[in-house]
Amino acid sequence: MCGIIGIVAKIGNVAPDLVKGLKYLEYRGYDSAGVATVEDGVIHVKKDKGMVDDIEKRMGLSSLPGSIGVAHTRWATHGAPDQVNAHPHTDCENKIAVVHNGIINNFNDIKQRLIKAGHIFKSLTDTEVVPHLIEENMKSGLDFKSAVFEAVKELDGSFALGIVSVYEPDTLICVKKESPLILGVGKDAMYCASDVSSLVPFTKKVVVLDDGELAVLTPTSYEIYRLPDFSRKDKTPIKIDLKVEDAFKSGYPHYMLKEIYEQPTALSYTIRLQEHYLNLMADLLDRSKEIYIVAAGTSYHAGLIGSYLLSKMARLVAIPVIASEFITSYGDTVSVESTILAISQSGETYDVLKAIEYAKSRAATILGITNVLASTLTRVSRVYIHQQSGPEIGVAATKTFTGQLAVLYQLALIAGKRRGKLSQRELDDLKEAIHDIPRVVEETLKKTDPLMKKLAEKYCKSKFFMFLGRGLSYPVALEGRLKLLEISYIPALAYPAGESKHGPISLIEEGVPVIFIAPRDETRKYVLSNIEEMKARGATIITLGEEGDKELMELSDDFIGLPPVNPYLAPIPYVVPLQLFAYHTAVLLGRDPDRPRNLAKSVTVL
Ligand code: F6R
Repeated sequence: MCGIIGIVAKIGNVAPDLVKGLKYLEYRGYDSAGVATVEDGVIHVKKDKGMVDDIEKRMGLSSLPGSIGVAHTRWATHGAPDQVNAHPHTDCENKIAVVHNGIINNFNDIKQRLIKAGHIFKSLTDTEVVPHLIEENMKSGLDFKSAVFEAVKELDGSFALGIVSVYEPDTLICVKKESPLILGVGKDAMYCASDVSSLVPFTKKVVVLDDGELAVLTPTSYEIYRLPDFSRKDKTPIKIDLKVEDAFKSGYPHYMLKEIYEQPTALSYTIRLQEHYLNLMADLLDRSKEIYIVAAGTSYHAGLIGSYLLSKMARLVAIPVIASEFITSYGDTVSVESTILAISQSGETYDVLKAIEYAKSRAATILGITNVLASTLTRVSRVYIHQQSGPEIGVAATKTFTGQLAVLYQLALIAGKRRGKLSQRELDDLKEAIHDIPRVVEETLKKTDPLMKKLAEKYCKSKFFMFLGRGLSYPVALEGRLKLLEISYIPALAYPAGESKHGPISLIEEGVPVIFIAPRDETRKYVLSNIEEMKARGATIITLGEEGDKELMELSDDFIGLPPVNPYLAPIPYVVPLQLFAYHTAVLLGRDPDRPRNLAKSVTVL
């Protein structure tokens, strides 16, 4: 889980563009960063612990000379996040530089062998074996390209690599196996990078590499080879439609706040999905013997809601499973008659991809919902839906969550219609409600943001929070709790409100804030009783409900009123004040909401 970028250009110094690209990749990790360039037979390296901007100020990464180079931003897996372990890594002679995203499983065996052969290692990373292995292969008489080919054959694991050397100073080699890697085709320059958005400032023509492919780039050409026999493969670039400004903060203090506010617009894109793909998906779901919804973190919360909607609207049973638990818990039941609906905003989450790989090996059908075009999920799915929420840079998922929900509503609606489980009246009402959702979210933002800021001021010193909801509001409670704890580091618990009396209620004492999600739906009357139970034990009651709901207001210490909404769609607006509460709390506590400690945007490790 790191970001890599490489550039080989006909003229000029590439370091400034490498640094620019790195900034787009920081959501993938920000423990350390570094750049290596080649000029006049010398590899120039600058790298350090910390974030790109700080290192740039301290060391001037972009002052490195040379028209070819690679760069890296790191999320540590092997070796502490310090300067020595920062990428790029080089061989004994400093003639080869490598950046790497992923894990090399057999690095220790290779390292021991190379140490015996006299190589001296500087870092504790798995990556460093790569330049040394290439060096060793070159000692035995191979040229640079063949030495890389032979080295790659030996590596076991998941990796994307960018490699430059003094031996061929106009050749950048990159390799993709399980970790993402995209080529960019520019005018008199070629690029490789971990994602498309980091290439957007330079080119809109990209080539998506598949697993087991290696590319040799020069300023004006790219050649693609397939592992393990290195047969040549022709691939034509595709055009991508992303704007540079989409990836900047647009005046907001943090990406997270910007992305929360982008939700009405993002949703208006998502609700215009092509029916063709939704129909294809609904058809495949309908034909399956069993359906599993597989996802991690926030996407799993969307999956819980999706499961509920498919059951209610289409009478389809879809079992939501946390991706890392899927193979152990359900692996034995997966067959050609199973369908896996994988939800992953990045499309690269390792646990999700592993579950899919397993399910594919048992001939199951894979469907994907993702926000990243050309991500691995889009390539391994029989049908995928691109949710079109726009790039999400803040580590905490916000607009991609509501976007996932908007896809799932449309999917459940179409499945319900095809299976004849919804009356024309219900269909019309739901369609109208979905189309109205951007407006409802816009109004929710306007009405609740100032209040959520005040509540954050009032409660930010609390040591613990509880979030409760029933039915569709239970996953909303889970998501509100995840947002708060991951960016403010305040411990919190989320439970189905009815289950709270079976244990969690023992945590309640005078003043403990309990947040109830209570839209006007079939569960509301039971939630009222749960509020009474908590109140009787001294909890401070904070509720989210429909504006003007007197009963709720009377029971609450603080009440957040939201515009009326179709109960099926309530999770979309109701999660918004919780995102805002988490955001304001984190900021008040002096945390960086865009870069919570120990987390990364795209989790590509086990
Ligand atoms: C929480 C968050 C994570 C992700 C999880 C899955 O705010 O962002 O919990 O939801 O890592 O990521 P994707 O959706 O990319 O598979």
